[in-house]
Amino acid sequence: MKWPARLFVVCLFPLHALKLQSTSRASRVQNCHIFTLWNYSRPVPEYIHLNLQSWQLASKGRCGAPVLVNRSNVRQWIPDAPEELFRIPYEAAESDAIRYALIYHNGGIYMDTDFLAIDMSSIIDRISDHDIIGYTAEAQNFTHGQFSSNFLAGKKGSVVMGAIWKAQKERMQKHCPAEMEPKSGMCCYDDPQRACSVRWAGLGEGISHPALRALMKSKTSFKSFIFSGHESFVPDGLVEVLKKKMSKSEGLKYWKKRKVMKPLSRKMYHLFNSQGFADAYSCVDLTNDLSGSVAGELYKLSQVKRRQVPHGDLVRKCANDGGLCHCQGIAFYGRRPPCTFLYVFSACQKLTANSTALRSVCRLDLESIVGRNFADKRNDLVRSEMS
Ligand SMILES: *[C@@H]1O[C@H](CO)[C@@H](O)[C@H](O)[C@H]1NC(C)=O
Ligand SMILES: *[C@@H]1O[C@H](CO)[C@@H](O)[C@H](O)[C@H]1NC(C)=O
Ligand SMILES: *[C@@H]1O[C@H](CO)[C@@H](O)[C@H](O)[C@H]1NC(C)=O
Ligand SMILES: *[C@@H]1O[C@H](CO)[C@@H](O)[C@H](O)[C@H]1NC(C)=O
Repeated sequence: MKWPARLFVVCLFPLHALKLQSTSRASRVQNCHIFTLWNYSRPVPEYIHLNLQSWQLASKGRCGAPVLVNRSNVRQWIPDAPEELFRIPYEAAESDAIRYALIYHNGGIYMDTDFLAIDMSSIIDRISDHDIIGYTAEAQNFTHGQFSSNFLAGKKGSVVMGAIWKAQKERMQKHCPAEMEPKSGMCCYDDPQRACSVRWAGLGEGISHPALRALMKSKTSFKSFIFSGHESFVPDGLVEVLKKKMSKSEGLKYWKKRKVMKPLSRKMYHLFNSQGFADAYSCVDLTNDLSGSVAGELYKLSQVKRRQVPHGDLVRKCANDGGLCHCQGIAFYGRRPPCTFLYVFSACQKLTANSTALRSVCRLDLESIVGRNFADKRNDLVRSEMS
């Protein structure tokens, strides 16, 4: 009885694959790619694989498969990338440095890997004639030059992306004196071996918002479409809902109280990796979340399918390092910190006698190891060391 069953599976699979392909292949849009920064030396959390799958489903393949960009291929997409780009010290800053240029040179979409897509057709339909498609979060107002940069889209040659990229290049190429470390913003040094110094948002919104305001002030005309208010990709309070792992009914009640409209009908969602999403949902099958969480509901809407099987038991504390869920140990913003980080971190805590030594250890740019979220923690350490 085994034999016919196996035959059945073998025959069914290609038919199924064929059907998927024909329904999902809408016409390919010219000058539209979906870019993201991809520089993972550790295993990639499962939810990020699911997110990338959602981009392809939600775009019906009209912009091709996501293009994963890092130093190995960035010049292919940004031919005028200055040498300083390769001296940006951490990934969050590097992604800030490439997103505008990628759209300017190639057209399409840039988003961070913690974006889940539900329906991208209204974005893609606008790509060919818009200089900027984006969204604002609570308290941002595009007419004041504010927008969220973790999702951006626009046409090839966009006036807006071009102006911002030009401002970024100028900032990178205007070097600082060797002894200077900027307290805000960023700068690079003459020494080609030395990493640039980039403060929080120093290369990103710290440049792009003023550049947009300058463009508006100069009365340059450009075409924009901004998803805001009840179309924003971050319904107000989303972090709270995700962090507390609220169920769909709790979440809807919470949103109703805050007068947030259509929180579950947005086209895209920013899931805030920086707030620990990976860690909080590390051991949860997001495509079949039996607890009925809002996060599970969003993944259900995206129609993604998981490709990994769970392994091992659920553990006390799970630093997400790829799969469901065979991990143990300290998690930091949802990632398992590398050994050097643990070493430095404990060294910083233990060394109190010799504050000079402590300072030099802590001054290793920890952001470069774990990303910009570490900056606050590091400042705390430095502060407690000073006192
Ligand atoms: C860099 O990008 C290339 C091309 O997309 C990819 O194959 C490679 O795995 C990436 N490297 C890292 C460290 O993620
Ligand atoms: C990309 O990953 C490599 C390997 O982990 C790391 O050395 C490098 O600093 C990363 N790039 C950025 C811009 O952080
Ligand atoms: C944005 O700012 C403009 C001009 O100051 C104002 O008219 C508008 O109401 C603001 N929009 C929101 C959503 O606050
Ligand atoms: C303090 O640190 C410096 C630099 O690492 C070292 O040379 C010195 O011996 C240390 N002093 C003490 C008292 O540990």
